This record gives sequence, C-alpha cells and structure tokens, in this order.
Amino acid sequence: MTALREKQLLEDVVASFDAKDERLQTIVEAATRHLHAFVREVGLTHSEWDAGISFLTAVGQMCTPERQEMVLLSDVLGVSSQMELTSAPSHDEATANTVLGPFYVAGSPWRDEGASILESGDPGPRVIMRGCVRDTAGRPIEGATVDVWQNASNKLYAVQDPQQDPNNLRGRFRTSERGSFSFSTVRPVAYAIPDDGPVGRLLDLVGRHPWRPAHIHFLVTAPGYDPLTTHVFDSDSDYLDSDAVFGVEESLVTTFQAADHQRGALDAEFDFVLLASRDTFRSDREPGT
Ligand code: BEZ
Ligand code: FE
Repeated sequence: MTALREKQLLEDVVASFDAKDERLQTIVEAATRHLHAFVREVGLTHSEWDAGISFLTAVGQMCTPERQEMVLLSDVLGVSSQMELTSAPSHDEATANTVLGPFYVAGSPWRDEGASILESGDPGPRVIMRGCVRDTAGRPIEGATVDVWQNASNKLYAVQDPQQDPNNLRGRFRTSERGSFSFSTVRPVAYAIPDDGPVGRLLDLVGRHPWRPAHIHFLVTAPGYDPLTTHVFDSDSDYLDSDAVFGVEESLVTTFQAADHQRGALDAEFDFVLLASRDTFRSDREPGT
C-alpha cells in the first residue's frame, strides 16, 4: 500500500509540471524521478535529509565570484566529466573534452610561437611543449587559438597566488600554416583542489583525497570548429588513476622526456584534433541513447 502511495506521489508531482519549454519539462521531470528514486532507495531519514540540506546550503554559501563550490561538487562527483562524455563528439578521432576547472582566466596575453609563458621565477624543470592542431581528416588548421594555463612549481595557479605575476604560466598562441604551436614552460605539478570548504569535508568523510595529477590546460578554438577544452597529463605524475575530478583519459596522457638538444629542457608533444561544427553530436538526441 505504502509503495503504491509512494509511486502515486511521484506521478502526481510529475503530472503537475506543464512547462512551455519542452527541454525544461524533460529535465525537471527526470530530476524529480531520480530524486524520488534516491529517497526511496536509501530510505532517507529526517536527520539525513537535514544533513543534506545543511550541506547544500553550505556549498551555496561558499560560492563567491572567485570560488564556485557548486561546480566543484559537480566535479568531485564526476558529474562534470559524465556530462563531457554524454555530450562528446561523435567522431572517435576528435580530442576528448574535459572539465574547464576554476582557474581559467579569459584574456591571456598573446605570445609568439616558441615563446615562454613564464613571467615569474620558478625553480621547476623547463619544458618545451609543442604540437599541431588538425581536423578529423588530419589536415592542419592554420590560425587556431591555443589558450594554455597551468600551475607553478609551488602547486598554485597565478590566480591563486599574489606572489606570481597575474599572467604567469598562461598565454594564447596562434597556429602556423602547418597547424603547429610551441611554447616553453615549467613542468606542471600535482596539486590538491580547493578543499577548505564543504566539498573538502565531504571528500574527507567519504575517504577520498583532493589531488589531481600534473597537467597543462588547453582551450583550442578555430572558426568553423567546436571549441575544445582539455588537459594534457604528465605520464610520470602521481594520481593519474585517482584524479579527484575524474578528468584523466588515457588518450590525454603524454610523456615529458629528456631531450639533449634543449639544454636540459624536457620535451612534451601533443596534437589536438578539432571537430568541424557541422559534425557536432547535438544534445537534442533521444534521451538515453
Ligand atoms: C583544474 O584542473 O584546474 C581543476 C579542475 C576541477 C576542479 C578543480 C581544479
Ligand atoms: Fe588544473
């Protein structure tokens, strides 16, 4: 009898929605169904419901223009990465999209091919990073924008660290007619995501660490192609198999290897493959397919 009443309650709530926007109707309906299923599956008690509400309230209260704790929650629960997968390009050749993260700052300085992105002193090993931007047929894309950002050897991004020049370890490059780009930098290091708030407390309670493997972020754009937000990971880094935000894909891992011609600098290479906009896997496909 109770089970029948529980099901009827859900159906009553779902039937109450009459959104003009069809997509909104689908989303609110599905979210409601999943939330009811969750409450019924775990047999949620009043005190657990209270704790959940307090937690979500604390997550919201932690948010400022500089700190997006809600997105961080989505990241550590793998929801952001799940969304990247479900909205992934249909083309296997295209480079995988990953989470943007909180440390992207628009408007990085334009830099010449081969220039350094270092603006502050850093004791880390030097790296020459190079690669090409291509389409899925392997043709070079000239004039693509390669926007990069990474952390310093003290684990911090420039936006987190008043000791660094605000443009340290970030920059924009234009690809050559061969689709190539290159820059010099320092080796990125593994770091902990911001864990001094409710999301950090959650990680602790569920026995998880806040670390991410060493990586360089890339946002690659070109007219006529879908923007690509991704990372390139250092194959020597710790935490490749336990990234706090589930952003690692094998295809995004590369080696930072010693190269004697670069006076001690390490060499790293990565080619990006962009998907022409018309090939995009639209989000208006059938749900669940
Ligand atoms: C990052 O790699 O910058 C990042 C991504 C998600 C959450 C926190 C940090
Ligand atoms: Fe990062």
